Amino acid sequence: MTKHVSLDDDHLKIFRDDILSGLTAERKTISSKWLYDDVGSHLFEAITELDAYYPTRTEVSILEDNAASYLRLPGARGALVELGSGSSRKTDILLKAFQDLSVYMPIDISANHLKAAAERVRRAHPSVAVIPVAADFTQPFGKLPLLPELPVLVFFPGSTIGNFEKAGAVRLLRQIREAMPAADLLIGVDRPKAETVLLKAYDDPAGVTAAFNQNLLQRINRELEGSFDLGSFAHRAIWNDLESRIEMHLESRSDQTVLVAGNEIAFRRGETIHTENSHKYSEDAFQEIAQLGGWKVSAMDADKDDLFSIFTLAAT
Ligand code: TRP
Repeated sequence: MTKHVSLDDDHLKIFRDDILSGLTAERKTISSKWLYDDVGSHLFEAITELDAYYPTRTEVSILEDNAASYLRLPGARGALVELGSGSSRKTDILLKAFQDLSVYMPIDISANHLKAAAERVRRAHPSVAVIPVAADFTQPFGKLPLLPELPVLVFFPGSTIGNFEKAGAVRLLRQIREAMPAADLLIGVDRPKAETVLLKAYDDPAGVTAAFNQNLLQRINRELEGSFDLGSFAHRAIWNDLESRIEMHLESRSDQTVLVAGNEIAFRRGETIHTENSHKYSEDAFQEIAQLGGWKVSAMDADKDDLFSIFTLAAT
C-alpha cells in the first residue's frame, strides 16, 4: 500500500487546531511532531543516511561499543520500550546483544512506519514479543499497555529529547518516570560542537532536510486544504548560541497570504514559521535536566570525538 493514510477525525481536529493556533501566534511556530507523517518519516530516514548528518552514525557506533555493557540493566532481560522508534534500526544493535529479552514495545506517532518496522523486528528476532503502540508519546502515557511483571528499560535515542524546550524536556522525563517507575532510561543526547558542523547537518548540501521541512507545508495543503506555494518558502537552519540549539524555520520569500482550513494567514517577506529546535547539551547541562525530571545519571557513554552521548539514567 503506497497511499497516504490520513489521520482519523479526532486526530485531524487536533492537527488543525494545533496548526491554526501556531500560525496565528505573534511568532509563527509549528510543533515538530507534525513533521513525521509517512512522507516525513521516510524523508527523515534519508536524512539519517547523509554524510552531513553525524548524529545517527555516531549514536550507532556508541551503541555498538556499549550494547554488551547495557546487559547490566535488569530491563535488558525484561521489556525494552522505545520512544519514537521510527525504523527501529538502532534497536537491532540492542536486540542482538539482549538475548534474553522478552518484550519489545516500540512507540511511534507514524502508524504505518511503525507497523513495517514491527514486522521487520519480528522476523529478525523471533524470540521477542513485539508490541507496537501507535501513539504520540508527548501526550500522557495513560493508554500504554502495562508490563507490571517485567523489569523495563526505556530506550529514547536520536536526541529527540533535544527537540523539546527545556521545560518540556523536564516534563517528558518526569512523565516517563511516572509511567514506568522502576525503569532505567537509555537516552541519546547531542552535544554542542563547531557551528559549521551543526549547520551542515541541519542544512545538508543535497537538500533532503529542506525537503523534510517543506513536507510540513505539503502536509497542510493535503490534509487541511492549505494553499502553500512551496517555492515561496525557504528552509533555514540557524544556530542560537544563547539557547544552545539549532533552529529550523521556513522563511517567506515575499509578502503573501495563504489559506489554511478556510483561514487567511498573512506573511511578511522574511517572516518565518519556526518548525524545530534541536538543543545540544553538555554533560553538566543534561545532568541538570535529568535531575529536574526525577532521574540520576548512572553512566554516560560517548564516541571518541565527543560528538554525541548516551546517558544511562536511573530513577531517584
Ligand atoms: N532529533 C533529530 C535532531 O534533532 C531530529 C532532526 C534531525 C530533525 N534533522 C532534522 C528535525 C531536520 C527536523 C529537521 O537531530
